[in-house]
Amino acid sequence: MEFKAVVDLQAKGGADCAVVGIYEQGDLGLGAAQIDAAIDGTLVKLCESGDFTGRLGDTLLLPRAAGNTATRVLLVGLGPRTSFGRKQYRKSLQAAAQALAKTGAAHGVVFLSLEAVPDLDILYRARIVAEVFSVNAYKIPDLKTGPKPKTAALAKISVAVESARDAKAASDGLTIGAAMANGIALARDLANLPPNVCTPAYLGKSAQTLAKQWPKVSTKLFDAAGIKTLKMGAFLAVTQGSDQPPRLIVCEYWGTKKSVAPICLVGKGITFDSGGISLKDPPAMDEMKFDMSGAAAVLGALRTVAELALPINLVVIVAAAENMPSGGAVKPSDIVTTMSGQTVEILNTDAEGRLVLCDALTYSRRFKPATVIDVATLTGACIVALGNHFSGLMSNDDGLSKELLAAGVRADDRAWALPIGEEYVDQLKSNFADIANVGGRDGGACTAASFLSKFTKDLCWAHLDVAGTAWLGGAQKGSTGRPVPLLVDFLLQRAGAK
Ligand code: BES
Ligand code: MN
Ligand code: ZN
Repeated sequence: MEFKAVVDLQAKGGADCAVVGIYEQGDLGLGAAQIDAAIDGTLVKLCESGDFTGRLGDTLLLPRAAGNTATRVLLVGLGPRTSFGRKQYRKSLQAAAQALAKTGAAHGVVFLSLEAVPDLDILYRARIVAEVFSVNAYKIPDLKTGPKPKTAALAKISVAVESARDAKAASDGLTIGAAMANGIALARDLANLPPNVCTPAYLGKSAQTLAKQWPKVSTKLFDAAGIKTLKMGAFLAVTQGSDQPPRLIVCEYWGTKKSVAPICLVGKGITFDSGGISLKDPPAMDEMKFDMSGAAAVLGALRTVAELALPINLVVIVAAAENMPSGGAVKPSDIVTTMSGQTVEILNTDAEGRLVLCDALTYSRRFKPATVIDVATLTGACIVALGNHFSGLMSNDDGLSKELLAAGVRADDRAWALPIGEEYVDQLKSNFADIANVGGRDGGACTAASFLSKFTKDLCWAHLDVAGTAWLGGAQKGSTGRPVPLLVDFLLQRAGAK
């Protein structure tokens, strides 16, 4: 989809649908007021008759009216003006994008960008337009045979702004929003693919493709032998029950001076989590193809960073493997030596995420990173705690934690801070090794993160548990692309965005 900022409020330039907002009680937004004047007060009349209430997210499509230049007008309800904020702005755009895609319009001009939103300047407002419209156009890479449903005609969006100065800021925002959507789409594609296609090797290939596409990205892959040479005993243990060869994937992006310490993103890439010998229950086991969503998200964020050529240094590390039961699989009570030298008693083979991550986190030390953030669908307990709304955030650094929480708010991809600490580490005591990989049911998300904290001493580290947020189940089953928006917003801030 193509995006452009336009100053002309009269919706010229060949747009075939004008998208305008109306608040409750017939309170016309800026674009609507302009158009209403040209079409004889039709919009006011529609509100007065009660045919359009302005309720947030309602839409109404009007055919061409004499006097208007666009061939259609799409009314979008904005809710009460007094409560119009970031969330309402996004929601009204989502409604507009969905409704517009159902019309035959190829070129929409969006006026919602003109509405004042507390804390959102024109760059941000435009960024959200591009993100929402692009994300709305996303299609799952399905393997359905038979006739494909007609794809939407919508190919171009003009975004109304007030001045030439605003146009510059808006066009920066549009570029960012579109690049963000590309990162989200990559993450969703990878996670939505079936696990017989999206294997560890496939994730490795995808990382190599990123390196081919973006000259500042380079990718290095380690196979089982390489992982063994690195002495990643915990990672290796998870891989050993599967016939699919594992991959340690390392992507480097150098966007500024090499002397600047990189940010490291580490992703859990379990392409299928059967639980291993501690086998999961069959219901919803299919959803464990999404257990590589952390990996998908960090690769998606990398794609956006590369597309925007952000002046940061970024290293993405993915631990990719399948967790399967077999004669050679790791067993409850096996003890392994991690790359850090600490020994782990594997009491439950279904707590595999922390095993692959602990070694990947240790590996990140090679880059002397300024910050390390791991992203993982780590625990069912995190879903119990936070549901599908917030990702769990644990960190050993309050400053980093605040930055990530703020990024989540700005990007509408929120996280909530949960605790880690010695109390939880105590739950992981083992009689036979330095630490056990499980600590009982209580506080499961916190014990998992506290396990990881044993491997991130002296690093500035945060952990995002996205078990509840990375995908949806039920009728809408599929990847959400979270937490790509949060990560990208955080990286934009680190790159010096205002
Ligand atoms: N990938 C799962 C976590 C998960 C479960 C994510 C359900 C989303 C939905 C992880 O590997 C796992 O199995 N965790 C166990 C840990 C337990 C054995 C301590 C869990 O949460 O049950
Ligand atoms: Mn598991
Ligand atoms: Zn898992």
